[in-house]
Amino acid sequence: MATTTGTAEPAAPTDGEGVRRRDFIEIAAVSAAGVGALATLVPLISQMAPSKDVLAESTTEVDLSAIEPGQAIKTMFRKQPLFVRNLTQKEIAEADAVPLSELRDPQTLQERTKEGHENWLITMGVCTHLGCVPLGAGEGEIRGEFGGYFCPCHGSAYDTAARIRKGPAPKNLEVPQYEFTSDTKILVG
Ligand code: FES
Repeated sequence: MATTTGTAEPAAPTDGEGVRRRDFIEIAAVSAAGVGALATLVPLISQMAPSKDVLAESTTEVDLSAIEPGQAIKTMFRKQPLFVRNLTQKEIAEADAVPLSELRDPQTLQERTKEGHENWLITMGVCTHLGCVPLGAGEGEIRGEFGGYFCPCHGSAYDTAARIRKGPAPKNLEVPQYEFTSDTKILVG
């Protein structure tokens, strides 16, 4: 059977072959570096990811009793801003008056709140465009032309149900999982 040895290789590869061999060697070196980096990254990422236990425990309780109608607060949930807002009857009526056909991400206020607690609007404070924190939950902050929240990064405006109405954001502010544990307390997560 014919075998290939060092001396059996063509003695003088043409320039084209030489280039191809060098390319191959470089690609092989880069690939090896990539695999090495990946091998380093995988354990690092798995170390950084919170365990299931930690995630399951990371709920946030919010006391609503001090939040007056028309007021909102900013708090944190799983290291991200959370907006908790007590809507006025006027703000509820404004949200209800908007035809769903006008909405980019059609949802009613009722779908975004809990039955019997439609005045409590609980959303993440993270713009669905590129993740800035919109204005409107803090004392004295502007709320934009639709009266909800306004993202100063690129001008997305949300209405009183935190639904996207104008600007580049594709989606309404996210409503996280939560439940009322009493009339004045919610548990988020
Ligand atoms: S991040 Fe909010 S509009 Fe771009």
